[in-house]
Amino acid sequence: MLQFYIMKSKEEWKVRQLEEKEISQAVIRRLPRYYRYLGELLENGVERISSNDLSRRMKVTASQIRQDLNNFGGFGQQGYGYNVKYLYTEIGKILGLEEDHNMIIIGAGNLGQALSNYAAFEKRGFILKGIFDVNPRLQGISIRGVPVRMMDELGEFVRENDVEIAALTIPKENAIEVADQLVENGVRAIWNFAHTDLSLPEHVIVENVHLSESLMQLSYKISRYNEEHNKQ
Ligand code: NAI
Repeated sequence: MLQFYIMKSKEEWKVRQLEEKEISQAVIRRLPRYYRYLGELLENGVERISSNDLSRRMKVTASQIRQDLNNFGGFGQQGYGYNVKYLYTEIGKILGLEEDHNMIIIGAGNLGQALSNYAAFEKRGFILKGIFDVNPRLQGISIRGVPVRMMDELGEFVRENDVEIAALTIPKENAIEVADQLVENGVRAIWNFAHTDLSLPEHVIVENVHLSESLMQLSYKISRYNEEHNKQ
């Protein structure tokens, strides 16, 4: 049965859309890329952009862009294109970037230090509050002004600093135990670089990052390319 709604506002329409249909993971995965491109356009003083122009820059079809953004109420106007600032702000809201997120890093080895050194996370509102390790030789060294602390300080630190996200850059053998400890102390989201799957309560969000998987995708594309070109 067709249902007609009288929408009070575009905002309400968007909320209803989100309630009614599950946005596909593929669309969600593409949003950060839109956000990055729109951020660059804003920095360059571009106020509006057509889906065709955005499509040329991003090397995604214009219809894909329209389809993706329609999931969230469109944001575009016929004959005008997209208002860059508005679209950037709205996608930021969808991605939960309008608020800061306090973050800690567990494991101050190669990877943990590399992440800690990456200042651009802060630009997106991910605030590095603390770095933790078990190796006493690392105690007190500072990375971008953030000192490495020992794990016995973890619980109190997490509670006092309202830590929401923990990046796990420790060996997989220790990851499960440490993840449990983080959750017990109120951490809500784990950015998991350790090569193990974590089984945590439903309210805890886990995002796994495996660079080697991305490298395997690259290897697959090389193989595909070679196969196609050898055929010709
Ligand atoms: P690393 O050996 O340089 O650093 C690991 C650090 O974790 C050390 O400082 C160690 O003292 C600390 N640590 C060990 N147990 C701990 C615990 N229970 N609590 C707190 N800290 C603890 O190793 P690296 O190269 O930094 O790699 C870290 C982890 O990330 C490894 O498991 C590695 O396999 C993984 N990795 C994952 C990648 C990915 O794409 N997902 C890419 C590179 C590494």
